[in-house]
Parts: sequence; structure tokens; C-alpha cells
Amino acid sequence: MESNDVPNSRSETTSEVIARLERECSRARRHLATVLENSSDMVFATDADGILVSFNRGGERAIGYSSEQVMGRPARDLAADPSEFERLEALSRTEGRATHQEYPFRHKDGHIVRFDLSLIAITDSDGRFAGTSSVCRDTAPMKKFHDDLIRVDRLAEIGRTASGIAHEINNPVAVIGEISGWIEAVVGDAKGMAREDREELETAVQHIVKQVKRCRGITRQLLAYARDSEPAQTSLDVHELLRETVSFLNPELRHKDIEAVFDFMEGSLLLQSDKQMLEQIFVNLISNAIHAVKEKGEAGGRVVLKTSRDGSTVQIRVSDNGTGISEENQKRMYDLFFTTKPAGKGTGLGLPICRDIIGKLGGEFSFETQVGEGTTFIVRLPTG
Ligand SMILES: Nc1ncnc2c1ncn2[C@@H]1O[C@H](COP(=O)(O)OP(=O)(O)OP(=O)(O)O)[C@@H](O)[C@H]1O
Ligand SMILES: [Mg+2]
Repeated sequence: MESNDVPNSRSETTSEVIARLERECSRARRHLATVLENSSDMVFATDADGILVSFNRGGERAIGYSSEQVMGRPARDLAADPSEFERLEALSRTEGRATHQEYPFRHKDGHIVRFDLSLIAITDSDGRFAGTSSVCRDTAPMKKFHDDLIRVDRLAEIGRTASGIAHEINNPVAVIGEISGWIEAVVGDAKGMAREDREELETAVQHIVKQVKRCRGITRQLLAYARDSEPAQTSLDVHELLRETVSFLNPELRHKDIEAVFDFMEGSLLLQSDKQMLEQIFVNLISNAIHAVKEKGEAGGRVVLKTSRDGSTVQIRVSDNGTGISEENQKRMYDLFFTTKPAGKGTGLGLPICRDIIGKLGGEFSFETQVGEGTTFIVRLPTG
């Protein structure tokens, strides 16, 4: 209440009372109008004949018409189904209110916008029907929220079933692998076969064997990712494990003329951890390093494995002098199935799985990279 509206000690004259009430009334009206104008809902009112007498900014934003364009027109003209709107108006007249979920209005551009509609009858001081007031809430944000929930739920379900699917695929793939090995032997020994036919068959079988290996690799990785079990806690020497991994990848290193350098701290590096999981991390990181060096295509390619220990933390650094990782790819490289390798070469599972495993082992995973210079992945693990 403004100070000049406070009745003073002298009693007000009738005209002063009327003037004060008028001021209060207009202030309340302004206040209400501001609330309605700024509401994000579409709010409009009609007179007893269904003609629009107010239309707020929320409505302008929602269906594209300005208030000047619609005032004086029947409200039903805004509805996608005018006869249904008339029915709701009639219902509100008899019942006092009417509601409709996902009621369609037509946007100025022609497309449909759906609202949760609530229509209330307005009566005058004598209780006679004077029009309606409608509040319409856009259902799109709620619907999006609902759809997002369903999508997240579906993703979780896919995650849960992934390991089952991987198991199912593993078995037939193992059979295909065995049979192709047998075919390879039979073809090799077959008598009376033309040389070209034999070579063609051998190449085809080698192809099958290679693809089977790839399928098994993918299912193995997916199984490891989906596996909920606790990591094993066996005593192992990280240096031994790194040497084993490098000797396993040696054919690839030699083939690509890449030198593997061991820069180990003195002695053995003992840990209580899960050997299989660590092996998977090292294979992934060293394979990525080999690929990055080859991608760069320069002589003198190197992959350096460096170890150190700080109190109860062990640090393993896998460095390469390959391509480095662009800022854009750094943001995406932990996404499942993100790969820059050609189709058939990478699945984009390596890094997300490394990060997941390192988390399970209670460690930390980080990297340093410079485009054109190379990359270092750093694994920190507790000793036990
Ligand atoms: N040492 C590295 N140097 C340069 N880029 C790298 C390096 N390591 C990873 N990347 C980039 O990150 C991407 C994702 O790596 P990640 O190991 O997750 O999948 P991938 O190697 O493409 O496929 P997968 O490991 O499943 O065979 C790679 O495709 C590559 O672009
Ligand atoms: Mg990889």
C-alpha cells in the first residue's frame, strides 16, 4: 500500500474512498496482468460469446500470433479442432470448468502444438456466465523429459543384456573358428585341386579366421565391460606383465618397424591386482600407440613403457611419438564406439574399457598429448 493510500486520522470523504479503491483495484489489476503476461503458459480469456478479450505473451510465443492479431476473434479459431473446443466451452459453462490433456492448437505456421488445457467459467457479480479463462501448458518439455527417461531406461536394459548377447555370440563364433581351422587343414592336404582354386580357398578361409578373431575380441571386451564381478587380488609383477604384453604384440611392432623401449624402475614392481584386467589395459594402450605411430608414418617410431612408484601408488606410462590426439577427439575418445580407425580396424571400445577397469581397480587414468608429437597415457594403481 502506497503512503498516500493510507487513510489519515481525518475520516475520508466518499469520493476519496472511491478514488482510493479505484487505485487499489487498478494496482491489483496491473499486478495480475504482469503475472499473466510473464507466464510461460498460454493464458487467454473470452467473453460470454467465446470472443477473445485477452491473450498473453506466453500465447504469442507458443502459437505465433500477436495479441492484436487474435483479440476480437473467437477462441475456437485457434484450436485445431474448433468443434471440440466449443464442446469444452459448453462443458465449462455447465460444470464450472473443463480440462483436456494434450489438446491440439494450430500454430500460425500451420503445425500443431499440444497443450494440457484447463478452461474455467467466469461469472459476473450476479452469478451469470460472463466468459471463460483458459490456461494452456505446452506438453512438449514434459514429453521430452518422459522420452528421455524411457531412452535412459532402454540404454540400461541394453547394457544389462549386452553380456548375455556377447555370450550367445561367442559360442557360435567359437564353432565357426574351429571349423575354419579344420577347413584350412583339409584344403592344404586336398589332392587333385588346381593351384588357383587352392589359393583362393586358402585366402577365403584365412579371411574367415581373421574375422572370427575380431568377433571374439569384441565380445571379450564387451563381456569385460559388462562384468560386475569384483576384480581378483593376486600377486603379480607389472614389469613381467608388460614384457609379456609386448612380446605378444611383437609381430605387429616388428611389422611396422616400431621400437618398444622399456624404461622400468629397478627391480620388480609387485602389485595385488587382477592380472587379466591389467593385461587388457596394456594391450589396448600399446595397440593404440602402435596405430598412432604408424598413422604418422615417419621413421623412428617408438613406444616407451615407463614405470615408477610413489609410496603405495604405482605409475605406468605408455608413450608414443605418433599423431597425438586433437582437442575435438579428446572430448569423445572415452565414448563407447568412438573410433577414428577405418571400418573393420577399430571398434572404439579400448579406452572406455580401460577407464572402466582402472576405476574398478581403484586407480586413476589420465593422458598428455600434443598433436604431431605424440601421446602418453598414465595409469596410477594402488599397490594392493
Ligand atoms: N595413443 C594414441 N594416439 C593417438 N590417438 C589415440 C591414441 N589412443 C587412442 N586414440 C584415439 O582414440 C580413439 C579411441 O580409442 P579406443 O582405444 O577407445 O578405440 P579404437 O582403438 O579406435 O578401437 P578398439 O580399441 O576398440 O580397437 C582412437 O580411434 C584414436 O582416434
Ligand atoms: Mg584401441
